[in-house]
Amino acid sequence: MIQTVRGTFDILPNEVPRWRFLEETARAVFRCYGYREIRTPIFERTELFARSVGEETDIVAKEMYTFMDRSGESLSLRPESTASVVRAYIQHKMWTWGSLVKLFYLGPHFRYERPQKGRFRQFHQIGAEAIGQSDDPAIDAELIEMIEEYLERVGVSERVLFINSVGCSQCRPAYVRRLKEALADAIAHMCENCRRRYETNPLRILDCKVEADQPIIERAPALVDHLCPACAAHFEAVRRHLEARGIAYRIAPRLVRGLDYYTRTAFEITGARLGAQNALVGGGRYDGLSEILGGPPAKGIGFALGMERLLLALPDDVAIADETPDLYIAYLGDAARREAFRLARRLRREGLVVLYDFEERKLRRLMAQADRVKASYAVLIGEEELAAGRYTLRDMRTGEQEALSEEALVHKLVAARAVSANARR
Ligand code: HAM
Repeated sequence: MIQTVRGTFDILPNEVPRWRFLEETARAVFRCYGYREIRTPIFERTELFARSVGEETDIVAKEMYTFMDRSGESLSLRPESTASVVRAYIQHKMWTWGSLVKLFYLGPHFRYERPQKGRFRQFHQIGAEAIGQSDDPAIDAELIEMIEEYLERVGVSERVLFINSVGCSQCRPAYVRRLKEALADAIAHMCENCRRRYETNPLRILDCKVEADQPIIERAPALVDHLCPACAAHFEAVRRHLEARGIAYRIAPRLVRGLDYYTRTAFEITGARLGAQNALVGGGRYDGLSEILGGPPAKGIGFALGMERLLLALPDDVAIADETPDLYIAYLGDAARREAFRLARRLRREGLVVLYDFEERKLRRLMAQADRVKASYAVLIGEEELAAGRYTLRDMRTGEQEALSEEALVHKLVAARAVSANARR
């Protein structure tokens, strides 16, 4: 039997309502903040990710699904979307759209990671990017506020926001030298990953999770203490803006993120119930990424969250109802069958969910079926009903029955549908 590839999974119909709830709530919340949806391709030139996310990062060095297409071009399934969105910003000259362009996206992303709880090879992100001329710290705070509003709306109340500043090309190199000096004696005793990163990407040592390395890392100098005056002022201003908006945060001096494009603000939100993979949201500023990709000077900030992790973080009592049919049509005989198909089409045009069975069944079985599919109403069409021009409509919750003309029946079902749609809202 052929099964799904390791690290991927089917989202079955009864799980889809939870996914749609997360997606639709994102659309509803982000809209209010002026973000518009963008859909970029699932695959891009490998070079796009190599240049933006960084050749030395785990994502690019080890985790990308890269392949040659038939013309010999190296392509990769997108491991994230910031690079694609900035590419689109440049390609479509979005700076002509306005001084700040706000975009959001949702969809599958791909990383060849070791699958575990909350970590998959095809996973789904919801993310947003604000790209433009200004690096006003209020933009950072507004983006974070939007994420907080979203998480609150979907029901993730147990969460912690961690923020840091990773500096800029002015102050980071000096800090990295200082960090390397501070670790010079200890590095030989650290884990293999740290030893490798010491040469390739020393900042990422701060992110090491190996227990034995923690005392060493704790003694290392913190980037926030070595920011240039402009970065320090920016970080301070982001904090003040968060406080003014009533958003609680913790400073995480060792938060460095696993992508190279970040400058200044970096943040993560962790959620409860997630186990080792507890980063629900990750994001930050990437001023200058546009230039790296051959575009005009631009500032940017964004975030992405993992939908699989968000689903794990949702409390169990978040009730998300699956859609049930408005009507089940039980028919008896050929003439009634034709009538059933006609009535179904009429009601479906009104937006109602109408089911019937294709095979003939006995009356008792038909009613059992209406029950099984959880229809709100069932209608019985038999020879008698056809002759009288009236249908017997049964309210499946109360068991009440009434004989109605087709017009009255359509009217009643459409009205009932409107009431239940309102209740769902
Ligand atoms: P990231 O931290 O690599 O950032 O990913 C963001 C979120 O995607 C993570 O916090 C996690 O919830 C989810 N995620 C990542 N990898 C996996 C996986 N293998 N399985 C399940 N979930 C996963 C970015 O992708 C940046 N593009 C975020 C960003 C946008 N920064 C600025 N703008």
